[in-house]
Amino acid sequence: MHKPSTLFSAFFALTILAAFSNAQASSAPARERVSFNDGWRFTRGDPANVGNSLDYERVKPWLLPCGDDLLNMSPPAALRLPPPAPNPAHLYGRAIDYTTSKFDDSAWRALDLPHDWGIEGPFYQELTGKTAKLPWFGVAWYRKTFDLPAADAGRRIYLELDGAMSYSMVWINGQFAGGWPYGYSSWRVDLTPHIKPGAKNVIAIRLDNPREASRWYPGGGIYRNTWLLKTAPVAIAQWGVFVTTPRVTAASAIVDVAVTLDNKTDARADTKLTTRLYAADANGAPSGPAIATAQPAALNAAARNQAWISQTFTLENPRLWSLGERNRYVAETEITQGGKVVDRVLTPFGIRSIEHTTEGFFLNGKRVPIRGVCMHHDLGALGSALNLRALERQIEILQSFGANAIRTSHNPPAPELLELCDRMGMLVQVEAFDAWAIGKVRDDYSRLFPDWAEKDLRAMVRRDRNHPCVIQWSIGNEIREQAAPGGWKTAAYLAGVIREEDRTRPVAAGFNVIQAAYNGMMTAVDIVGYNYKPREYAKVRATHPHLPLLGAETASTISTRGVYVFPVSDDKADGLDRQNYQMSSYDLYAPRWATTPDDEWRSHDEVPGIMGEFVWTGFDYLGEPTPYNSDTTNLLNFAGAADRARMEKEMNALDKKRVPSRSSYFGIVDLAGFPKDRYYLYQSHWMPDKPMAHILPHWNWPERIGQVTPVHVYTSGDEAELFLNGKSLGRKKRGQYEYRFRWNDVVYAPGELKVVTYKNGKPWAETTTRTTGGAEKLLLAADRREIRADGRDLSFITVTVADKNGRQVPRSMNKINFSITGPGEIVAVDNGDPTSHAPFQASEREAFNGLALVIVRAKPGAGGDFTLRAESESLAPAEIAISAR
Ligand code: GAL
Repeated sequence: MHKPSTLFSAFFALTILAAFSNAQASSAPARERVSFNDGWRFTRGDPANVGNSLDYERVKPWLLPCGDDLLNMSPPAALRLPPPAPNPAHLYGRAIDYTTSKFDDSAWRALDLPHDWGIEGPFYQELTGKTAKLPWFGVAWYRKTFDLPAADAGRRIYLELDGAMSYSMVWINGQFAGGWPYGYSSWRVDLTPHIKPGAKNVIAIRLDNPREASRWYPGGGIYRNTWLLKTAPVAIAQWGVFVTTPRVTAASAIVDVAVTLDNKTDARADTKLTTRLYAADANGAPSGPAIATAQPAALNAAARNQAWISQTFTLENPRLWSLGERNRYVAETEITQGGKVVDRVLTPFGIRSIEHTTEGFFLNGKRVPIRGVCMHHDLGALGSALNLRALERQIEILQSFGANAIRTSHNPPAPELLELCDRMGMLVQVEAFDAWAIGKVRDDYSRLFPDWAEKDLRAMVRRDRNHPCVIQWSIGNEIREQAAPGGWKTAAYLAGVIREEDRTRPVAAGFNVIQAAYNGMMTAVDIVGYNYKPREYAKVRATHPHLPLLGAETASTISTRGVYVFPVSDDKADGLDRQNYQMSSYDLYAPRWATTPDDEWRSHDEVPGIMGEFVWTGFDYLGEPTPYNSDTTNLLNFAGAADRARMEKEMNALDKKRVPSRSSYFGIVDLAGFPKDRYYLYQSHWMPDKPMAHILPHWNWPERIGQVTPVHVYTSGDEAELFLNGKSLGRKKRGQYEYRFRWNDVVYAPGELKVVTYKNGKPWAETTTRTTGGAEKLLLAADRREIRADGRDLSFITVTVADKNGRQVPRSMNKINFSITGPGEIVAVDNGDPTSHAPFQASEREAFNGLALVIVRAKPGAGGDFTLRAESESLAPAEIAISAR
């Protein structure tokens, strides 16, 4: 556990008090955490007078002490760095204008957080597609002026950031307060020494995104939520409550609530801890009276020190958290000092058991195949700026094709993602890093690893360890050290840090080097996760029958929604529509290291007991437009020189033209969230009980009359009969290791393709695809017609270009104009085309293969009904009303 310098541990086995709690509410809240997102000013670039004095390497000595509270043992005084000077800039004999109270920032742009400056564009052809051709890099500053009530004198005041990209440095009233370099971590700085109660205060934050920092689009800015936290000087530590459930059965559960107290005063603090348990509502808030209360226990901390204690409960007939029933509880931990409540924290948690075995993954004793997807953190057209509804929609879409798990590749997620996964029933592998000390691109995490890895890992685990959805911690993805001699020692060190923080979940990693299952890496972690090695599962199983196995990253199949390339080849290197930089959607194509979904599934069927997989990826994401990279991203996937040379040659061949691609082709759904054909392939396999059938390709091929046009059918049935214009093209039974039905010799004729499927001999599902007429009208459909009028809630409106019968016209690319009447506004538009350089913030968009997306919200500060109108030359327009309350 943490900081055991003054350690009081006591365990109270308590019986349940099914009585009403006698919790007393004190008049002023002991702890206040308020959103700090509104009312910021923003500018790009440094003031002229700082030169390079704020480069990370120069400011590092002042940044390093940040987060020392998270360490087991802060460095002893003798080893500590020189005490931070009040302001790094003083070192260089100059004040930094942007940080001072008197600086006039009225010319800076006014905005609210979360904010991603990169997504505002424009796209630049000359920038690398690897990071989306967007200008997310460079230096930027945020300032906020705010009043702090006089009544806050004597309290500790912290600025908390859930994530800022990146190399953050914070000043309060001109004084340096701290910062954090890794853009995906949550962290806080203590403003107390320099903040002025009863006065105006100014916070200034400088961010710096090195240009070569990422293999994908990282975004730029304070892109997650910010908070102002006020506590008493003696309070529960940051993420200082840890709830575990060491024993769970249907009959009873042991619930252990460990609480760390942080004493920021110069005197010893004698306090009492009282813990109460409540059932939680769907949002994780207490509902009803306390169901159990622990007797007050002494929790005493020496001056300027921490101490912890745990209180243990036995709950009869616990309501378990599962994917279907997302029951949660809340632990209320209350600290009193001299009879007065000085702190109170509510911690939602779930009671569930997890086991990772050679027979698979088990939740509450039941095997649950991990049907997971890898997800980057961007939200498509919204960039990386956190939006709760956009995240929730992503999960809804993932669940709609049967996904039950997310891997937060390759970095800690927004905390809101985990809250949603608790609430919506998704499993999560939280991943820390894409690089350790050996980098993949020049300024990636390798620059930070020696100084920050322990803090970043502890911050990740401590923040997220109470979420029932979190089942695994990954210490890294395709880490270079996996092939290096002694690399396992680094893995063992990192795994040790995680195990110190949390012994209830296994440590995982994603290995793309076969040897990692044999060279010591595999025992440094608890789960062997292979990336793209389906043929290796059987070998590992044979040599190490005791190792739990996972497809940590699978498939990487590439396709563009609505694009089909003929002739259809089974060579996975084919399928390129080179002229348009698109990929065929027959779902047979993948980069050299990757596979089709079918290949991966076959290995799982051949080697029972693999826990499941995390497919690369659920959604298309910004950046990494393999195979149309104009950079070296792909080469990173090859450890061997020969393979690398071969790939380089292939890429050079491709790069003869200027490649426009700026987002990926890997997604099961496209960047706008529209299903690709693959959506139905996963649905057929992951939702075997849902009657469904899907035909591809579309059936509008006037130029292919009389030509062979293969038809594939994805269905959860086990037999299928295909009809073209009423004539049977044959009824097929699913063979062993067959995951799709194929009619390879269909000769195209316009009209109707129909498939009738069966399961266990009984009719199961049918579907029809017809040649459509020409584009005649627009159709609008909103995912939600009623939204909250908070300026943040969103409605995602799908625009379909349709024929007169309302059928989507497959290859239509009509330009559409949007307008709103009433108090709403367009936040962004998209169409899922990975090659488009049209801005996302616009009121017009071309349809891409028949579809476009408009994201709208209520104007901040306004509510009421508004109407979106879509118009396009020669098409009948459409309108849809949205109401915001
Ligand atoms: C993997 C890597 C991912 C992504 C993917 C593309 O090797 O872990 O981050 O680059 O390849 O196929």
